[in-house]
Amino acid sequence: MMITDINSAWEELRKRVEACTKCGLCQTRNNIVFGEGPVNSKCVIIGEAPGEEEDMSGRPFVGKAGQLLTKILENGGGIPRASVYITNTIKCRPPNNRNPNTDETDACREYWEAQLLLIQPSIIVTMGNIPTKALTNTQRGITTIRGVWQKWRGIDLLPMYHPSYLLRREGDLTVRKQTWDDVKSLKAKLAALK
Ligand code: URA
Repeated sequence: MMITDINSAWEELRKRVEACTKCGLCQTRNNIVFGEGPVNSKCVIIGEAPGEEEDMSGRPFVGKAGQLLTKILENGGGIPRASVYITNTIKCRPPNNRNPNTDETDACREYWEAQLLLIQPSIIVTMGNIPTKALTNTQRGITTIRGVWQKWRGIDLLPMYHPSYLLRREGDLTVRKQTWDDVKSLKAKLAALK
């Protein structure tokens, strides 16, 4: 696809998400959170759903969990946040940050699928259970599948802990070391692409 075609397909997709009323979250959102980063990135990170700060700003991972995500990438893996594309499984905030239900995850599936098909990354990182289950159909929980490379339609996919989980487990050295190992594994896979 030519660059101009990708750009117009991308803007078209963004407009569809902005106008989306496929599930009830459209009634309570302040903003959709489409995603941000280079559309030609080699790596896409997929989180769960926007929280309050993301809903207010329209940007992914800008709250406390997002600050930790930036640290994990940059300090742990030497991967600049601005070099990856960051988005979520759900584009609108569930009220009170509850977990999204199946109707909501099903409604949003076409959007992240379209984003991945347009970006065509070499690597996908899923953070937490919700995106990991949505992309891999696994029955395994994040504590057993994290760090084990999977595939999404032939693309390498690394499940990692969600940074909110790490914030809840602050002081847990095992979880911290596992995350450190995972970001090193991501760094090595990115380096091998060059
Ligand atoms: N948690 C997520 O999963 N995504 C965000 O954008 C923010 C917090």
